[in-house]
Amino acid sequence: MKRYKIALIKGDGIGPEIIDEAVKVLDALASYSDFDFSYEELLMGGVAYDMTGDPLPQETISGSLKSDAVLFGAIGGQKWDNLPREKRPESGLLRFRKELGVYANLRPAVVYNELINASSLKPEIIKGVDIMVVRELIGGIYFGEPKGRTKDKGWNTMLYTRKEVERIAHQAFKIAQKRDKRVCSIDKANVLDVSQLWRDVVTEISSEYPDVELSHMYVDNAAMQLILNPRQFDVMLTGNIFGDILSDEASMLCGSIGLLPSASVGEKIGVYEPIHGSAPDIAGQGIANPIATIASASMMLRHSLGEEEAANIIDAAITRALSEGYRTQDLAQFDAKEVCSTSEMGSIIANYIKR
Ligand code: IPM
Ligand code: MG
Repeated sequence: MKRYKIALIKGDGIGPEIIDEAVKVLDALASYSDFDFSYEELLMGGVAYDMTGDPLPQETISGSLKSDAVLFGAIGGQKWDNLPREKRPESGLLRFRKELGVYANLRPAVVYNELINASSLKPEIIKGVDIMVVRELIGGIYFGEPKGRTKDKGWNTMLYTRKEVERIAHQAFKIAQKRDKRVCSIDKANVLDVSQLWRDVVTEISSEYPDVELSHMYVDNAAMQLILNPRQFDVMLTGNIFGDILSDEASMLCGSIGLLPSASVGEKIGVYEPIHGSAPDIAGQGIANPIATIASASMMLRHSLGEEEAANIIDAAITRALSEGYRTQDLAQFDAKEVCSTSEMGSIIANYIKR
């Protein structure tokens, strides 16, 4: 029997609650499959800082690198917001992404028909939306040097090398080949030199993918087009900060940020996490939506473990729970037949794993 080693990083806030539900679903899946999972819990974020003085202990990096994939909850919270920057949970997360080399962050925004009324946008605008944001994750203004801060001045550098743009562009084109074969590359080439390099390199790489249609869009226009006519997008290829912003915007097409998973992949180990944060305000109440994390576990099966069929089974179980009218608090107003807790939702989805 194959046994996959999964590193679990529960983190802060609602992180532990939602990871527990994803594990429940993975274990249900294992009981019907020719593989199973072993789990190792690792510390990151505020909880790691409280216990060790470091938001990203060295064992978390080495433990993750020894696993087949990392399933990640969420980190951060007000309690740690006033620490020096390098001690803050977010700095731990950025260092973690860098150490694991996960340069490609895949953030799907798919509108579930069952939740067509849950978005703040009109159903006719969002029906059928299926976007994949491919965000560069370990470069750009998040990491560029010089950066710094004095009492009266603060600065960061948006820097990309040709090599960094090439590898993320390849990812985007390859993903598009398995979808609707369209890449829209987002930049600010009318103002930024770094964006002009981005645009030129993406255009060069596109010649290796003649079956994929490439377009370019300025980021401000893209923010507008996402609301005006989101169906025009298939793959959106972005740098780090533009992708951070646009993926939050895209998530709102789908009704609740509690639904959306992500995958971060590169040359080593993949990291799978919900795109929502640690939501400290609702932590411990059993009302968080575990679907984004369960869907992230599905992406893990697909992208890191090569278990496409198992991933499809999880996706179908999520859709079934929604179409039967089960809703967590965040979606209680939208065609709910029954409002359920975090752990009830996990159990319902786990039960649907049985065929
Ligand atoms: C995200 C988050 C992170 C980011 C923060 C928590 C560092 O917003 O994953 O989108 O900006 O990348
Ligand atoms: Mg973000």
